Amino acid sequence: MHFTANPRRTRLAVAELAPDTLGRTDAAGFPDTFGAPSAAVPVRDPFAWVAEIAELTQPDEVVWCDGSAEEKQRLIDQMVAAGTLLKLNEEKRPGSYLARSDPSDVARVESRTFICSEREVDAGPTNNWCAPAEMRSELDEVFAGSMKGRTMYVVPFSMGPVGGPLSQVGIEITDSPYVVVSMHVMTRVSSEVLDLIEGGQQWVPAVHSVGAPLADGDQDVAWPCNETKYIVHYPEAREIWSYGSGYGGNALLGKKCFALRIASAMARDEGWLAEHMLLIRITSPEQRQYHLAAAFPSACGKTNLAMLQPTVPGWTVETIGDDIVWMRPGPDGTLRAINPEAGFFGVAPGTGVETNPTAIETLTHDVIFTNVALTDDGDVWWEGLTPEPPEHLVDWRGDDWTPTDGEAGRPAAHPNSRFTVAAAQCPSIADVWEDPAGVPVDAIVFGGRRATNVPLVAQATSWEHGVFMGATISSERTAAAEGAVGELRRDPFAMLPFCGYNMADHWSHWLEVGAGLDSEKRPKIFQVNWFRKDADGKFIWPGFGENSRVVKWIAEQIDRSRGVRTDAGAVPSAVGLLPAPGALDVDGLDVSDSDLEALFDVPAEAWLAEAELTSEFFDTFGDRMPAALRDQLARLGDRLR
Ligand code: OXD
Ligand code: MN
Repeated sequence: MHFTANPRRTRLAVAELAPDTLGRTDAAGFPDTFGAPSAAVPVRDPFAWVAEIAELTQPDEVVWCDGSAEEKQRLIDQMVAAGTLLKLNEEKRPGSYLARSDPSDVARVESRTFICSEREVDAGPTNNWCAPAEMRSELDEVFAGSMKGRTMYVVPFSMGPVGGPLSQVGIEITDSPYVVVSMHVMTRVSSEVLDLIEGGQQWVPAVHSVGAPLADGDQDVAWPCNETKYIVHYPEAREIWSYGSGYGGNALLGKKCFALRIASAMARDEGWLAEHMLLIRITSPEQRQYHLAAAFPSACGKTNLAMLQPTVPGWTVETIGDDIVWMRPGPDGTLRAINPEAGFFGVAPGTGVETNPTAIETLTHDVIFTNVALTDDGDVWWEGLTPEPPEHLVDWRGDDWTPTDGEAGRPAAHPNSRFTVAAAQCPSIADVWEDPAGVPVDAIVFGGRRATNVPLVAQATSWEHGVFMGATISSERTAAAEGAVGELRRDPFAMLPFCGYNMADHWSHWLEVGAGLDSEKRPKIFQVNWFRKDADGKFIWPGFGENSRVVKWIAEQIDRSRGVRTDAGAVPSAVGLLPAPGALDVDGLDVSDSDLEALFDVPAEAWLAEAELTSEFFDTFGDRMPAALRDQLARLGDRLR
């Protein structure tokens, strides 16, 4: 085994990486103006840790990454030569590449995702749990020699601007160059992070192996992976171990594993929030600005809202983040938010000129596509990019494809195919998107995909009511029969697969954080539903750019709460404040009065039936269930009756 140099160091052998040779300090030096890091978490020596993981996984070589453009290109060239990446037509899609994964490795694997807290109750009923000691000994076996014949990359990265008061750092060890290059795009990879760590900053160790060691003379494959997969989190130790997959959230450990699962546990202990939300800046015709964070379950058009092109004249929306938001009570009493990521890892299918022109513009150059289809002229295609598919494609598996195959139900691009692209090249990116101190959040929005019951938009009457809205986010599994409630897929706070601790404790934490905010400056909470259907099963609301009408009403409600407007904006209903007659701007929109009425219909009987289901859902959390949400449910019942 040999070690290439850490860019700031000379060559080091394993034996030289002794814990004592490096400055170990405590975590108190973190330049945090908003909150204190957890005192209980061990401060690890990064170099000793790298040596330990190398001992365990037995790579041929260890490479310290510095995040430079040169490093990225070198790894890309190496992957092109190995057949992992295919260079796309430089004229049509400059600087862009296509990766095809193994057909068995195409998505996050929730069944193999574990929250290994010391006590099972702290993981809660919505997470897979295993005792940490048991999992550690299992993983010791799995990772032993798992990097043989491969290079181990050490990737120091920051979530949020490097050194920012709301940012956090980590080091991902991986044996996948695809992961390194993706981390370059999705996080801030930099050797400056090592300086912070050496200065004593708390950091998250994250170990990733595709689980495909190579024996001497073995020919590698384009996408190595293992049938057996583990995505493991130790929330108390703030540690991540991932094995067997090279895909997305399983492997790019800064994203779901760190920025949501581990960060949510950090946030609980330190008084902040790590949420599965987009973040946008809205500007009114009067140049008033509002910041809105919104949680939606997967496949509810989150990226579309993050890149919204308003149809209402004079309003603009700028993008800050599309997937994850970290929020902390600021010294000024506001809730301040950053997007901890540096790129977008978005679902390609359904992203088209009509549905999201901003995303299409973002993707014109320097993109890594994974599992989309390849056109005959070396460009990419996916379902929904254009209304008609090209006459011939090579599909995501590398096989010939014609529109007849599509008609027969064989998509050209995998439904979970992705683009990986720098946020900075999004034309709607806000100039403040990298402000280390974040932006003040004015509105928090919870959305689901509901054919019935849930109105187009409703405002919570209190912070507690808003937390109740977040806790009850759900989507219908199947189209519901008229008047009845379909089977609900619960996705509280859109965090079901991403909360690193007991979901009910997450709600209690939200109640606490809200109580600590200045009541005037506290964000207002809203619920939206773009997916209400009529009796014939057709969507009532046009959605997409027209959602700006809802965004406008939300902004005007913020104005009203601040005395900037004095007109009546809302009327009470059993489920929250609804737009007063005439308050929702539907100027020039082709929606009939009866449809508008249907969008805001709150059918008492169906809602009572749903409240019954919510009660059963709450029961699954036993005594961890916060009384304030039980109380909200009881009050909802009273209002409906
Ligand atoms: C994602 C998800 O990939 O939420 O962002 O599933
Ligand atoms: Mn997501």
